[in-house]
Amino acid sequence: MTQTTFDAHPRSSLIVALDFDSLSSAVKFASQVADLVGMFKIGNQLFTAAGPAAVKEIAALGAGVFLDLKYHDIPNTVAGAVLSAAAMSGVQLVNVHALGGKAMMEAAAQAISAGVPMGADRPRLLAVTILTSMDHRAMKEVGVGGTPKSRVVKLALLAKESGVDGVVASVQEAKAIRKACGDGFLIVTPGVRPKDSDVQPATDDQSRKASPREAIRAGADFLVVGRPILAAADPRAAAQSIVDEIAASK
Ligand code: C5P
Repeated sequence: MTQTTFDAHPRSSLIVALDFDSLSSAVKFASQVADLVGMFKIGNQLFTAAGPAAVKEIAALGAGVFLDLKYHDIPNTVAGAVLSAAAMSGVQLVNVHALGGKAMMEAAAQAISAGVPMGADRPRLLAVTILTSMDHRAMKEVGVGGTPKSRVVKLALLAKESGVDGVVASVQEAKAIRKACGDGFLIVTPGVRPKDSDVQPATDDQSRKASPREAIRAGADFLVVGRPILAAADPRAAAQSIVDEIAASK
């Protein structure tokens, strides 16, 4: 499989989550910080509101796009969705749910390269293992056994075996995944909170948090950051300070 060819500048590791309900607010915000970040994450909220135009307009700002739509369906349908996602210019990361199973992940892994000309760089495929909003009890309720951490590592290994390039996981799980899946496997971590973040604990629903330094030290390749930049009094300064912390931690 082709190796990652992401730019080595520390800003390449910073992905800003565009959690907006309209494309105009997303573009307005993204254009303020586009030169300081590696990618913007477009998730279900913005994509459902604005569709592929969101990818087009955000990619036009110059940073890459992580299309975070977490596909989970029968293999044929997921392959079709991944093919369409990979064909959108500027998309560098796409994801599926590992709980969709091996055949679904294999179909997605084949589709991610299918529309790309030989020798050209292709987007990378990630798997979400267990949603960080699910605890042991919530997993049991849907029939998924074992502790969250052991299940996450097992699903990461299954994703790797299926040809998936990496996973989205909390910083707390990153070390165990790195150990199990090796160096070339991508790890993308949300829940990142710089120590001096403007985001106050009372409004923060991330239960498993870590600093940018801790994320990089745990083996993360990319950090997904939303509110610490979105809600900062000075978003450019907040983004720059995270990039500086990434640079100092590598
Ligand atoms: O504002 P905050 O930094 O918490 O935003 C993190 C982003 O990462 C949000 O878009 C959220 O949906 C996403 N995310 C997450 N936890 C996961 C997977 C994705 O917070 N396990």
